[in-house]
Amino acid sequence: MQIFGVDIGGSGIKGAPVDLEKGDLAQERHKVLTPHPATPDAVADGVREVVEQYEWAGPVGITFPGVVTGGSTIRTAANVDKGWVDTDARALLSERLGGLPVTVVNDADAAGVAEMRFGAGRDRSGTVILLTFGTGIGSALFVDGVLVPNSELGHLELGGHDAEKRASSKAKEDADLTWEHWAHRVQKYLAHVEMLFSPELFIIGGGVSRKSAKFLPFIDGIRAEIVPAQLQNNAGIVGAAMRAAEEGTAGGAGR
Ligand code: BGC
Repeated sequence: MQIFGVDIGGSGIKGAPVDLEKGDLAQERHKVLTPHPATPDAVADGVREVVEQYEWAGPVGITFPGVVTGGSTIRTAANVDKGWVDTDARALLSERLGGLPVTVVNDADAAGVAEMRFGAGRDRSGTVILLTFGTGIGSALFVDGVLVPNSELGHLELGGHDAEKRASSKAKEDADLTWEHWAHRVQKYLAHVEMLFSPELFIIGGGVSRKSAKFLPFIDGIRAEIVPAQLQNNAGIVGAAMRAAEEGTAGGAGR
């Protein structure tokens, strides 16, 4: 069974049909640059351009870097155009895709469900938290494999600041921090999240997950196990497709 997955990110909009049994892309993915400003209209055109590369006529799961309720409505837009707030993204994107059924999901939640099924969180019970370090910090919170959506732990307060402004990988780049310096900030952040949730496992996602050897050795004093994400670049696409499949089932449309 295949569902189309699209990942809307700060630099690119990427998508491909996803093989849900394998948890992998069924075809090579296509990417277009994210328009700037990333308004709803311009991004919707980008999503259409990606999906148009394939002869696709089924459901589409799409990630968004903000709070998404009901698989549809955007509630926050910390790092994208504020015009998204309160947009019915399902209606907008479905219309732009010629009426295909659309499910919209928070980007970190999508990456999380993919990692829990096919990656670093496979078969892990208890409390598991995936954190994506990129332009912002995204989070996905799981209890015995069940997602608690829209946890938004990137916006916890850390030393009087929005945590993602201090500890995202963009914060590292903007302030030209060494890996060690940045790792100390990440450690403080993880300690704060651990104090609140006492997870068994932290999964570190986002682009930096590929470079975990450069910063994980500097992190200590955290009781939970800390591992890098495994699906890396495709976790969002795969997870978006998985959510769309789940929604189809819940809505009675079948798989
Ligand atoms: C947003 C989250 C998103 C994260 C990563 C944060 O600023 O509030 O919803 O998951 O960035 O894109």
